[in-house]
Amino acid sequence: MSAFNGQSNSQLILALSKGRIFEDTLPLLEAAGITVTENPETSRKLILNTNDPNVRVIIVRATDVPTYVQHGAADFGVAGKDVLLEHGGEGLYQPIDLNIATCRMSVAVKNGFDYETAVRQGARLRVATKFVQTAREHFAAKGVHVDLIKLYGSMELAPLVGLSDAIVDVVSTGNTLRANDLVEVEAIMPISSRLIVNQAALKLKRERLQPIIEAFERASQPKS
Ligand code: ATP
Ligand code: PRP
Ligand code: MG
Repeated sequence: MSAFNGQSNSQLILALSKGRIFEDTLPLLEAAGITVTENPETSRKLILNTNDPNVRVIIVRATDVPTYVQHGAADFGVAGKDVLLEHGGEGLYQPIDLNIATCRMSVAVKNGFDYETAVRQGARLRVATKFVQTAREHFAAKGVHVDLIKLYGSMELAPLVGLSDAIVDVVSTGNTLRANDLVEVEAIMPISSRLIVNQAALKLKRERLQPIIEAFERASQPKS
């Protein structure tokens, strides 16, 4: 199963996505003595070197991080709880909450849409989202009937053009909702990113992985 076929157990591959997860993981890597020596924002390279010849970083889409780690193409990775809930936890060990990329999963509607009344009256709601599993579970638990419409981004547009009555998306500052005349009507759950580790790698490469996991754990504890 080894990451990059034929490599020895001393080689580690970390899967990250570009943007906030990459940026927020850099200080944690530093705490483990690892410096990424290439910048994914300026380079087109997808395999990045670090100061440690045995550690490399691969750059994948945020939603693909669990897939690479589950199949052992990466030994470990960083993924949002939102992404992990959609993917499912099979083959993944999730030792720590890194407390990075924090936001919340919420329901939002167009300003003026009476969500509470629609729910109370048992209306069937059209809900657009990238997070179909999470949305399905949320509305099932509330006993609300929904037609889920799968999107891959720009969810905020859906209620504005009549594609849906509501969206389920991540919210941080609320700026995107406000800019699009939407209002948050229900918080579903807090979201942060987790370290995920391939279960076989955890056994075969424990000696290399354990100190990094511990350094991440120390560095990611909420400052009191
Ligand atoms: P892609 O761009 O490939 O569609 P993505 O939009 O999910 O993927 P990012 O925006 O980098 O990728 O988000 C990565 C993770 O960061 C998400 O899975 C979520 O947990 C978290 N996140 C998303 N948006 C925000 C935000 N506005 N503030 C804080 N954290 C966020
Ligand atoms: C995310 C998310 C929301 C926005 C919420 O988008 O999809 O649109 O952040 O954050 P806010 O409440 O602070 O406005 P992102 O910035 O990741 O852009 P994307 O559409 O490229 O994913
Ligand atoms: Mg995004």
